[in-house]
Amino acid sequence: MPKISFLGAGRMASAMVEGLIARNVCTPAELCCNDGGDGTAAALAARTGVRAAGNLGDLVAQADTLVLACKPQQLAGLDPSLARLASGKLVLSILAGTRLARLAQVFPEARNIVRAMPNTPGQIGAGITAWSPLRAPGESDRATIGAILGALGQQLETPEAQLDAVTGLSGSGPAYVFEFAAALRDAGEAAGLSRETAWQLARETLLGSARLLARTGQEPEVLRDQVTSPNGTTFAGLQRMKARDFRGVMRETVLAATARSEELSRGA
Ligand SMILES: NC(=O)c1ccc[n+]([C@@H]2O[C@H](COP(=O)([O-])OP(=O)(O)OC[C@H]3O[C@@H](n4cnc5c(N)ncnc54)[C@H](OP(=O)(O)O)[C@@H]3O)[C@@H](O)[C@H]2O)c1
Repeated sequence: MPKISFLGAGRMASAMVEGLIARNVCTPAELCCNDGGDGTAAALAARTGVRAAGNLGDLVAQADTLVLACKPQQLAGLDPSLARLASGKLVLSILAGTRLARLAQVFPEARNIVRAMPNTPGQIGAGITAWSPLRAPGESDRATIGAILGALGQQLETPEAQLDAVTGLSGSGPAYVFEFAAALRDAGEAAGLSRETAWQLARETLLGSARLLARTGQEPEVLRDQVTSPNGTTFAGLQRMKARDFRGVMRETVLAATARSEELSRGA
């Protein structure tokens, strides 16, 4: 693998660095990071053996690829010398809502720029990331992109025009699932279970059902129908979800998040 530098050493950068090392894609010596001054780079370096760079020149000089992993609002405050330092390099940004056109203004001489939208399960290597390149990447850059984002879980290429919808679905999606888990727990309590028992049942039901979906590869409707006998208990529950238009609520949820992502990207 070419050398990779991470601008930012927080949760997502740590997940990528740790994933790259754990999967034997990179050695710690091939990776470098820095931070905004709160010590996250030194902490990541101490945990993994990667190098914490003293300054931007030191961060970028040896690297073929620069991963932007600071907060989106920190982009504008980065040292302008970064544009020259990143000349000829592959720049991969995970900054939410920051469009390729904006990144191209900041890195006008980059070899190529990729905008990626990961999600929080990436922190344990179980995420899914959609990414869009400024220009079609060559074979070796495609392999680098796949390796870096693969450290967070699955990855897929998508046109940039779809990244707001990706944000509305998989970017914000873990929060919908957490909210569903909490609702299931609260509902179990309402049905007479202790909070602790309701939480254990809700959490394991979600986890087990997600594993079953992944392992069988079946459509969710098929698995749903397999546990739904006519006029049985599941049928009674599903009838209520239908009456309260659960699918309509989910549709509105994803569309609202997509619209907000569009709004935020326009401002970025
Ligand atoms: N978390 C997610 O699931 C998720 C999902 C999708 C997209 N993202 C995107 O991923 C990015 C990182 O998120 P995160 O959760 O990893 O954030 P985080 O844990 O807050 O990490 C941000 C990192 O950026 C560093 N930083 C701040 N200013 C800097 C500067 N001027 N130069 C270099 N580094 C600087 C911070 O260093 P110090 O704090 O040490 O100063 C910290 O290491 C964000 O842009 C977010 O939009 C995250």
